[in-house]
Order: sequence, then C-alpha cells, then structure tokens
Amino acid sequence: MNSCDIMQMAEAHLIHTYNRYPIVLDHGEGVHLYDADGKEYLDFGAGIAVFAFGYNNKEFNDALKSQIDRLIHTSNFFYNEPMAKAAKVLTEAAGMDKVFFTNSGTEAIEGALKLAKKYGFERDGRTDHEIIAMGHSFHGRSMGALALTGNKHYQEAFGPMIPGIRFAEYNNLDSVKELINDKTIAVIMETVQGEGGIHPAKPEFIKGVRQLCDENGMLMMLDEIQCGLCRTGTLYAFEQYGIVPDVMTTAKALGQGVPVGAFMARGNAAEVLVPGDHGSTYGGNPFAAAAVCKTFEMFESHKLTEHVREITPVLEAALDELVENFDFVTERRGMGLMQGIAVTIKPADIIKKALDEGLILFAAGTDVIRFVPPLVITEDDVEEMKTKLEKVFDIF
Ligand SMILES: Cc1ncc(COP(=O)(O)O)c(C=O)c1O
Repeated sequence: MNSCDIMQMAEAHLIHTYNRYPIVLDHGEGVHLYDADGKEYLDFGAGIAVFAFGYNNKEFNDALKSQIDRLIHTSNFFYNEPMAKAAKVLTEAAGMDKVFFTNSGTEAIEGALKLAKKYGFERDGRTDHEIIAMGHSFHGRSMGALALTGNKHYQEAFGPMIPGIRFAEYNNLDSVKELINDKTIAVIMETVQGEGGIHPAKPEFIKGVRQLCDENGMLMMLDEIQCGLCRTGTLYAFEQYGIVPDVMTTAKALGQGVPVGAFMARGNAAEVLVPGDHGSTYGGNPFAAAAVCKTFEMFESHKLTEHVREITPVLEAALDELVENFDFVTERRGMGLMQGIAVTIKPADIIKKALDEGLILFAAGTDVIRFVPPLVITEDDVEEMKTKLEKVFDIF
C-alpha cells in the first residue's frame, strides 16, 4: 500500500477524533522517525513524552521478545514473576507502599479517584466528598479523569460531570485554601502541568498543598504521568520539592510504548481498596510488567537522571536563544527535558512547517510549543533541532 492508500483507509474507518498530519510513519531508530517514503524526522515529541530511550532500542526489544515467547497474558487471578518484580521496583523507587497497574494514564487517574472516594467513605461513611483539582490541568478523557481536567472546552459536550470536583488556580495556594471544607477529601494536581502549557509547580505552592493536606486529613495526589520517570532530571518531579504525595499516578515512559500505567499509594491510603473494589483484565499483565521491569533496569544502567541533568542546560540555552532572537517567542519555561516556549503565532502553523523541515514537535495549551524529546538526546540532537527550528522561524 502507498501512503495515500493508507491515509484514505484510516480516514474511512477511524472515528475522526484526531486531525492527523498527512504523514505515514514507518519505523524509528534512536531519536529519528522515518516515514513510508523514507523521509527522516528528528523527534522532539517522543510519542508524547513516552520513548525515553528512543526508537528500536535492541536491549529493550529483546526483553519484550523473550517475554512474548514465555507468557504475554494470564489474568490478575494468578501471580507471575514480572508482575511481582515490577510492583516491587516501582513502589520502592517512588517511596510508595502499594501499586495497581492499569493500561493507560487515564485509567491510573480513574483508579486514584476511586481510591480517594473510598478513603473518604472509610473516614466518615459519606459519599458526597469533594476533590480539589486545578485549572488548566489535564488528567485524561474518560468520565472521571475528564471531570478532574480543568478545561471547560473538553468537558462541554459530555456533562454532567461527576459531582464534587472543585477547581483551584494552579500555583495559587489561597485559591486552594478557600475551597477546603469538611467534605474535602483530596487535592489532585500535576507536579508540572503538561497539556495546560508546561507550568512547573512553584515550591511554596506544592509544599503549601502538602501542608494543607496534612492539616485537614486530605490526600495529596500527584499526577506524574507526563513529568515523571526521569524526564525532569529526577525519577519523579516531586523529589525536587522535598515532598512525597499520598497517592500518585504514572504512565507514558513506564512501558516505553507498551501501554501500561499505574497508581500508587502509601500509608492508610494504600489499604483502602480491597477485593471487589477495582480490577482490570490486562492491567500489569506479564508482557506489560516485563516492559516496566526492563525500563527501570535501563534507567539505572544508562544513568538516565544524570544524563537528563547534564543535557538540560544545553536544551535550555538553545531555547533561550530562540526567545532572544525571535520577537514572537516570548518565554521559555519547564523542568528538565519537559520544556515549552510561548509563541504569539499559532503553534499549529509552526508545527506544520517544522514537519516539512523534518522536525516533530507538539503543542501544549493554546500558545506553547512543547519539547519532550527522548531522554537520551545528545548535544548534536539539540543543535539539529535548533537549526531546523530557526529555519522554520525565519519563514514567519
Ligand atoms: C498529566 C497527564 N495525566 C494523564 C494523561 C492521560 O494519559 P493517557 O493518555 O495515557 O491515558 C496525560 C496524557 O497526556 C497527562 O499528560
């Protein structure tokens, strides 16, 4: 099939929830992707912050292949070795007590939401609890995750939302304080807001939320689905603030492309869900769990957090130069290899031209171009990205 046939077939049969670029991707190698006509793209999107080690990593692929030949799936009614090992490595690394594996980030949020509700029910026997979420947040598209997502546009056609979700302003502690009452059971937020436009939490805000949660018996729930797993230079972004959440979610880089997510909890929160409360056919099956185990093994062997901390200033300097040299680039912000530049031109127009130049980028919010490359990028890759982007910016 040629590229045109593939695109036509896809459009004829897929529900049209995405405006896809007219590019048929065929294979990847390291930080580059190749389309069906052999054109090369430098990928600074990493499948939306997924591929930490880049594409076609032999060590990772071999681990998956050997698990495929052994056991792909059973059910969660039996034990298997990858499941046990993945649970141990994940909880110990995060300082959490227990984990539940899911198939996506959204499902991890759904599980965390149910955990919070049950926690409240155990606390006082009520079911009318409130949860504080943040404006401009993104937690996913299913009904629970959507209710926590502070973007009216995504919610508009799908109401009513589940009740009891109140929205505070991110990085404004007073706005959180104002919403707390005796029904409030949890505060949920991204440690670094991603889809909302790359906004890291201010230290005084996230520490203040931690304190409010402690003082009011509320769970602090951090969504580390996009910013976690070495992307900001520590395994989880919250480590850089000297706080630990009660409940947290992770996904994206967790399986390096194998669909797997997780929610974790510590202390009493880790004990509230019991048999019958939650479940999943696939969640954390041997194949997904083998991917998690290999991912964590490779984080260590590649000293990935150290590499991210080394390469971050290089990317920041390159982006700062763009801010300096182009009037329509107004600001850079971010943490580690989760960076964004605010632009006064429509990001979509820039992204399309960048694709022509062989550079893959994603937008975040309405006015931000996001940089979430594979975590193994080198100085040469940053230079290649900057050269391509300068060429694009010169057009505008
Ligand atoms: C912070 C955050 N939470 C949740 C999600 C949803 O994850 P998924 O797309 O794997 O369901 C995303 C996805 O972009 C995200 O960035």
